[in-house]
Amino acid sequence: MITADGGSRMGKKVLYKSLVDESLKLAQSPPEKVLIFRRGLDPDMPTVAGRDVDWHEFAAPHAGAQVPCAWLESNEPSYILYTSGTTGKPKGVQRDVGGYCVALASSMELIYCGHAGETMFTTSDIGWVVGHSYIIYGPLIAGMTTIMYEGVPIRPDAGIWWKIVQDHKVTVMFSAPTAIRVLKKQDPAYLSKYDLGSLRHLFLAGEPLDEPTHVWIAGALKKPVIDHYWQTETGWPILSAVPGVEQTRNKFGSPSFPVYGYDLQLLRESDASEAGPDEKAVVAIVPPLPPGVMSTVWGDDERFVKTYFTTFASKMVYATFDWGIRDRDGYYFILGRTDDVINVAGHRLGTREIEEAVSMHANIAECAVVGVADALKGQMPLAFAVAKDTSTLASPEGRKQLEKEVMETVDRQLGAIARPKAVHFVTLLPKTRSGKTLRRAIQALAEGRDAGDLTTIEDPAALEQLTSALAGK
Ligand code: PRX
Repeated sequence: MITADGGSRMGKKVLYKSLVDESLKLAQSPPEKVLIFRRGLDPDMPTVAGRDVDWHEFAAPHAGAQVPCAWLESNEPSYILYTSGTTGKPKGVQRDVGGYCVALASSMELIYCGHAGETMFTTSDIGWVVGHSYIIYGPLIAGMTTIMYEGVPIRPDAGIWWKIVQDHKVTVMFSAPTAIRVLKKQDPAYLSKYDLGSLRHLFLAGEPLDEPTHVWIAGALKKPVIDHYWQTETGWPILSAVPGVEQTRNKFGSPSFPVYGYDLQLLRESDASEAGPDEKAVVAIVPPLPPGVMSTVWGDDERFVKTYFTTFASKMVYATFDWGIRDRDGYYFILGRTDDVINVAGHRLGTREIEEAVSMHANIAECAVVGVADALKGQMPLAFAVAKDTSTLASPEGRKQLEKEVMETVDRQLGAIARPKAVHFVTLLPKTRSGKTLRRAIQALAEGRDAGDLTTIEDPAALEQLTSALAGK
């Protein structure tokens, strides 16, 4: 394992070592050695003798070493990246080397228009697919300089990203809509303070780009802002404008057209037939999948096929699990997930995983987690939980305390990004007679929409409880 003593966020230190030690205690096959890069953030860091190795001591004898290329067969795996789906168990998305290189090299030229010798700035987290593809491999394959930025867009002030663009003559920038929504709340003067002459395009992905945010950033930068759509599974864009081939008009709210290599179809959920213009349907990719797209679920080929290729009984196609429509001009629009995955500030989370984390609290019998619309983060998880011992809920303080404990349990299991906006306590959840939680109905009610057809509900009292909980009664 390779790690650092810590990182920093919003001027605060985040120490990693105790997290690493704790996770290695839980690991079924812990690594023999842990290589630690000390950044001086944790002078008192404890070490495990015989296991922990200091990076500087380890690397010193190898300084200046020339390491020859290791030639690999193109289907050899390059990396595994875990991502959420419908179950509580994340899938290891496995990618190859050859196809991935080809896809990245061509996308750097034709989509991102980045050239050797120039600089790319992708504001993502390196541990996320966008970081893998477009902080590390893509720009380096293209012969570009890449910028790794640790921190948030508004510290030391809201001009930091634009200062980076100016100082390093960034030509290609890639970020996420949430970050732009954060910047939109800051003083707009920061955007005109720096010389952004080098910048050609700003690409955004990871979540829907709402029109007001798109209009604002395009106007403020006076550069083309390109919304493009893809997934951890694909590793590179599915839908995008391709400015390196042709300049096309942007439509707000649309990531434009299928990228070359993708045979995209919009299929009706009922019978897998192709949907007409402006008709909502499932976004599917007809195999063979393009180069760069996942080759399997790590260690589980059967799960790969079952998860992605069995949505339709009559057609073996890859399901993206997103709803989409195509308008009469051929522009696509993504309308959210068909499964129980939610998108919190561009982070993909499975509501089942959050439910499992909530249930880890000793006093929770069962729960339902849904995603509700949030102006800044796109969506946020909201939890409804049934307590085992209800005596703690008798007072408002008791409720607050249990809610706090549940949130801390989620923080520990999945990280603060998955923490529910609120935990509402009820004594029963809305379920069908066959015991399936009516998540879509819960979500609709939580967002103040009509809950739709509720004839299948087992006990309507569950809905009354839900409505009262939401109203704070
Ligand atoms: O629902 C879609 C949404 O994010 C999901 C993929 O998330 P992740 O695996 O984290 O990969 C992100 C790589 C950029 C998709 O299934 N999504 C991604 N981009 C967009 C989007 N939804 C709407 N518009 C987008 N541009």
